[in-house]
Amino acid sequence: MAKILVTEPIPEIVIECLSKAGEVVVGEKGFYQSPENLINNIGEFDALLCMLSNPVNESVLKAAHDLKIVANFAVGYNNINVKAAHKLGIKVANTPDVLTEACGDFAMGLLLALSRRFIDAEAYLRAGKFKGWEPLGFLGMELRNKTLGIIGMGRIGQAFAQRARAFGMKIAYHNRSRLSNQLENELQATYYADHLELGEACDVISLNCPLTEETHHLVDQNFLGKLRPHVLLINISRGAVIDEEALAQSLHNKKIAGAALDVFEHEPEIHPTLLTAPNTLLLPHIASATFETREAIGMLAAEAIVAVLEGKADKEIPNLIHP
Ligand code: DGY
Repeated sequence: MAKILVTEPIPEIVIECLSKAGEVVVGEKGFYQSPENLINNIGEFDALLCMLSNPVNESVLKAAHDLKIVANFAVGYNNINVKAAHKLGIKVANTPDVLTEACGDFAMGLLLALSRRFIDAEAYLRAGKFKGWEPLGFLGMELRNKTLGIIGMGRIGQAFAQRARAFGMKIAYHNRSRLSNQLENELQATYYADHLELGEACDVISLNCPLTEETHHLVDQNFLGKLRPHVLLINISRGAVIDEEALAQSLHNKKIAGAALDVFEHEPEIHPTLLTAPNTLLLPHIASATFETREAIGMLAAEAIVAVLEGKADKEIPNLIHP
């Protein structure tokens, strides 16, 4: 009987689905964040359902003698060495589509929270400083006619753009490849080949790109230096797209007006200078955290595992990542 490792407790319905294909072992919360623990245990498993917090590196994959598939409980898969997996004949799957709407909603929520200063205003109230309605208290930025610049115009970037359009925003974007004319027209989106020029032109910047060698520290001192002082920055992609030290300095020196960060370069550690930055919303990587979406993510990952263990052809498994 096949053995399947699920590295963290996940919705029960997903475990039930996996049980059709083999014996399921569920790891304790946090245990497999250490590559050593993966290396020491992966040898006995045929399939791995891992989290974005599990480093599935080359050493882990080499220790996996019987592994046929790694399915990530996430759309982003920078935690997996996909090249090494494919070289070793191990298939890799992720979970596109099912979290798009949850992440689009979440990004819009972050933008509203930042632009209307929820963070500082709530802290003010809790500190007992609210003594009555203030005509000049906590004035924020209205969204209508402002420009949202999206770096990474994939499914989630587009979902955010649709929502922002409903709030009357203009859309600009930078992406590896340009959208079709039809999509550009639908979103009324203006393409910028140069992300620095996008930075200069926008009131809000949202990072929605995957973490790759090209996007690592894309938001650095140089990029931040192009932004105007009222600009707000949102990151729900991966922490390492930002040079966190440079961002913390920009925020403290009021070179930009605020940031909402759901992801961090060294999760779960947070850069200490970000913790004290003004108008900065810091969240524990929860963009896809709805009941519906987390169940759907788990089911999509599990279905790929079941299909591979049943010997289905790759073309019948839509969420496999191809070499
Ligand atoms: C993912 O699935 O990659 C996202 O980080 C979820 O928030």
